[in-house]
Amino acid sequence: MNKMEDELPVVVLISGGGTNLQALIDTSAEGQPFEIRGVISNRPGVHGLQRADAADIPTQVIDHTAFPDRESFDAALADAIEAFGPRLIVLAGFMRILTNDFVDRFAGRMLNIHPSLLPAFQGLHTHRRALQAGVGEHGASVHFVTSELDGGPVIAQARVPVLSGDTESDLAARVLEREHRLLPQVVKWFAQGKLQLRDDRVWFEDSPLQAPIQC
Ligand code: GRF
Repeated sequence: MNKMEDELPVVVLISGGGTNLQALIDTSAEGQPFEIRGVISNRPGVHGLQRADAADIPTQVIDHTAFPDRESFDAALADAIEAFGPRLIVLAGFMRILTNDFVDRFAGRMLNIHPSLLPAFQGLHTHRRALQAGVGEHGASVHFVTSELDGGPVIAQARVPVLSGDTESDLAARVLEREHRLLPQVVKWFAQGKLQLRDDRVWFEDSPLQAPIQC
């Protein structure tokens, strides 16, 4: 088998700047066992699309504002994903809520990175809410996507301290730096066949995880 056949085909979904996408591009270029076959954005003109272009990765924009409802957007998105033939779909700063049908279609092969220590701070504005709550620790989580928003089984987390005097952007930057190592690590494990979703639980190296892996 040649190297291309060994590499797990991945599609990355984005909505913005794509720094997590860049981390995946850089890791895959280092010879890791996955290949990004395509990048899809629901927003035209975002910087993440330029990052993909620069790495010669095919891109597609599926602008959600052009669709009358979630169902029709998700159907177009699913078709676009399938056209790339991925075995893994990575949501890297993809800011859309997905329908249950869509999530079920890709069950067990779709990951999301969320900027909090789930189950804390599901949803938006996680850094602001962490500061308001006065927590001493914050971070990011990578989880399998299920129909529960930001509620799928957590695979791995990265933790950072919250420092006195932190602004929202200080904390966001500290978390984001860790995201850039966390997400490629989890994708690599998936590509190595170490990770599975079985009966709504994460299995790692053939055992059910008792708690998220700390990265
Ligand atoms: C990251 O914090 C990610 O966890 C969140 O949105 C941000 C996206 O950043 N979902 P980028 O587009 O990867 O730079």
